[in-house]
Amino acid sequence: MYISANDWLSRPPAAPPGPAALAVPGGTLANFYGRLLAADTTGELNKEAGLFLDAQIAGCAGLPCELPASPQELESWMFAGAQRATAAYSHYLEERQAGAPRRFFGNRAHALYFLRAVAPTKLVDGAWLYGLLKHWRNPRFADLLRTYVEELGDGAADKNHVVIYRALMARYGLESLDSLDDGLYTQGVIQLALASSAEEYLPEVIGFNLGYEQLPLHLLITAYELNELGLDPYYFTLHVTVDNPDTGHAKRAVQAVLDNLPRLGHAEDFWRRVRQGFQLSNAGIGSTDVIAGFDIEREVVRIFSHKSAAGHGAHSDYCRVAGRNINDWLARKEDIPEFLGALQKAGWIKRGAPVEESRFWGLLQGPRAEMFGVFSPYELQLIHDWIRGEASQDGGAYTEVLSEAATVRRPSFRVAARLAANRGESAFDAAATDDLLDVDLQALAQQLATLDEIGQARLLLQAMAPSQHWTPAGLQATRLFMQRMAGL
Ligand SMILES: [Fe+2]
Ligand SMILES: [Fe+2]
Repeated sequence: MYISANDWLSRPPAAPPGPAALAVPGGTLANFYGRLLAADTTGELNKEAGLFLDAQIAGCAGLPCELPASPQELESWMFAGAQRATAAYSHYLEERQAGAPRRFFGNRAHALYFLRAVAPTKLVDGAWLYGLLKHWRNPRFADLLRTYVEELGDGAADKNHVVIYRALMARYGLESLDSLDDGLYTQGVIQLALASSAEEYLPEVIGFNLGYEQLPLHLLITAYELNELGLDPYYFTLHVTVDNPDTGHAKRAVQAVLDNLPRLGHAEDFWRRVRQGFQLSNAGIGSTDVIAGFDIEREVVRIFSHKSAAGHGAHSDYCRVAGRNINDWLARKEDIPEFLGALQKAGWIKRGAPVEESRFWGLLQGPRAEMFGVFSPYELQLIHDWIRGEASQDGGAYTEVLSEAATVRRPSFRVAARLAANRGESAFDAAATDDLLDVDLQALAQQLATLDEIGQARLLLQAMAPSQHWTPAGLQATRLFMQRMAGL
């Protein structure tokens, strides 16, 4: 089944900017994100997704657009953009070699904060193209579908972008996205909304893909600084290579615009809407905004406030700080900043000194840690870097023994991984999925055996949805789907 030109030509131009730009179906963006992810594309959500996209498009109207005036100039525009990014990156490296500090991440907690804040986007990587999958027989979509299955790692777990990001989050204790700023879901919701409305928003899908798949400077710097801090940069280095402008997703994205330009219909209107879609790829809170928005004090207050609901009432009576017992301090979230101040005044926390000198830290970590397990690894790193203050710029992990860190230069992530491999310690191996115990893997095999060809195709597409493609069954479905595409 092809999408006909009439499907998108029949759509009126987006509404003018106004209050609708702020409307989110179902309350919060996080909630809508969850509903879009959980639903198979129902008619109802499809409508809500369309309204949301219209509001976002209206919100971007009038903003400057980086795209050239005509699609024929796209290729040179793409190369010029990539060249600007790599030239700026060389300049960055020169600065760093001359002794400049890290540009993005002040300490390890800052980098982990970033990884957590962009998670709603990264966990649906590729989703904007999902709606085209059922039109896989249309040769004009070849580059877009190739991009989608590559986002899915061609069905290999160790190449699937979402599996890689999930592993990254698990590795650094970032799984909980509790109390994340709702605006951080904007990009993810746009991507899922495009997934559920590809028929109505084909030019926007193609334009979004064009914007999202270009090589930005921040990706290069992020990968460099994560590695420097001893954090796994693979998700980001992978995108430097996979999205390259020579043969990668950036190039395919340009080709997809040219391949899909109407030959018989209104090319100008299509191009205008491609530009709208391109603008959507910059909507919401961007990576550099997230990085600049880090405030360690505010983040520490946030996690203590969040814990106070569970911690209030869980402490014994005899422990008092500034004349008040702990349960009392935790009773009201508004008291948390004052409580943290009181802990410092009473000497429980010594800011600007090694964490070992803070009695409070001894409750969280170490042989007599009475509060062991209360804070996640991310939260511990945050408290650790907050206590250490400026010294945390050395990127020390909260698990490091200070005396070692002080005398030995910390290796980058890549050097540490090489050393571990030499010692025979293998890193996370996500490659093998065939012998995994998984209910859906078994269900997939059983159902495929009983369905006709159309039913099989429908089941494979369902298993390759953004909510499922990273599971063992989703990966298996991707491999089977690719065999079909290749006519095997
Ligand atoms: Fe990706
Ligand atoms: Fe990509």
